[in-house]
Amino acid sequence: MSETNMEARTLRKDHQVQGKTSAPSVSPVMSPSMLVTLKAELSDMEPSQLAKARAWANPAEGIGRLGFMNRAAVKMAELDAIFQLTVPPKECSRAKRPRMGEKSMFERSFSSGHLTFVDLCGGPGGFSEYILWRVRTSGDPVKGWGMTLRRLIEADRGTEREAPDFHLDSFREETNVRDSMNLIYGPDSTGDILDSKNRETLSMDVDRVTHGQGVHLVTADGAFDVVGHEALQEVLSGHLLLAQVHLGLSLLCLGGQFVCKFFDASTPLTKSLLYTMTKCFTTVELVKPMTSRPANSERYLVAREFLGMSHAMKDRMNRAMCSAGLGQDPVDAFSADPPPSSFSITLDKLNQW
Ligand SMILES: C[S@@+](CC[C@H](N)C(=O)[O-])C[C@H]1O[C@@H](n2cnc3c(N)ncnc32)[C@H](O)[C@@H]1O
Repeated sequence: MSETNMEARTLRKDHQVQGKTSAPSVSPVMSPSMLVTLKAELSDMEPSQLAKARAWANPAEGIGRLGFMNRAAVKMAELDAIFQLTVPPKECSRAKRPRMGEKSMFERSFSSGHLTFVDLCGGPGGFSEYILWRVRTSGDPVKGWGMTLRRLIEADRGTEREAPDFHLDSFREETNVRDSMNLIYGPDSTGDILDSKNRETLSMDVDRVTHGQGVHLVTADGAFDVVGHEALQEVLSGHLLLAQVHLGLSLLCLGGQFVCKFFDASTPLTKSLLYTMTKCFTTVELVKPMTSRPANSERYLVAREFLGMSHAMKDRMNRAMCSAGLGQDPVDAFSADPPPSSFSITLDKLNQW
């Protein structure tokens, strides 16, 4: 990753990349295997050496937490400053609209300046803390939902592990978090978004409160520890990324915005998901915030103005999720509408930024 991290790259439907700043001189395209080799070198580094290199490489490291619970909140603040994510879109609706002239409860209570959001894989809660703080201190009403892994059940070993749950005690007081967020963990109480019943429970609660209209903003920041396997991060995270995109798209209202963490963009699954996103939104941009460590592969997709999904698209996403759940390759579900080669080449170039 070079020092171009503040640049937002727009993925256009014609598969060209549109940079907001001048493009860096493009060196030969980095192949996925080169990326894997370079990342593998990280596994051999001393942790102290790695920490020193991180601090040296990222001037934004010194910004710290700015009074929020973690650096993730500051990343969300940076994305908000660029994209005005916490301003609710003027028009926002989903298919299940009330009949003409009939105002749903959602419209009566949420339409004027009320921001609704869902924070997927959001523990311990920095994103939500920032969003609640920002909207509340602007004097507007806000309602959020959160789902994050609370306990990790290792079925093969029959054991359970703790995961970083939403830490409500660390939220700033102004957020009024206990009244502002519904935390949903699903029937198995794990908060695992890979479980279909957990996803269904969240969707039903969002539908109940918003009267089927969905939320203005979805954020998804899913990740897990890949220490020692950095080179395989994108492959290992494929199912989680698919689940976040699948669930996020089902929760958004038309006109809504989606922020989703991606890693590299070299596997066919990542490319198919990015391609799907370009078809579902008016604009799709990939951003590496200054506050995100330059040496990691994390980048954020910021998709704006949700246009909805065709039946065929929904069907592909559902089939992909089923395959992934059965341990099969989900990418086959996208074979009827694969990303064109120009799109794929563009993404290969993006991998070196
Ligand atoms: C980088 S952290 C998110 C940080 C968060 N955005 C914040 O602002 O504090 C990634 C989160 O993804 C969660 N996660 C990983 N796999 C998940 C899964 N299958 N379902 C739900 N959450 C998951 C992790 O437990 C962790 O809390």
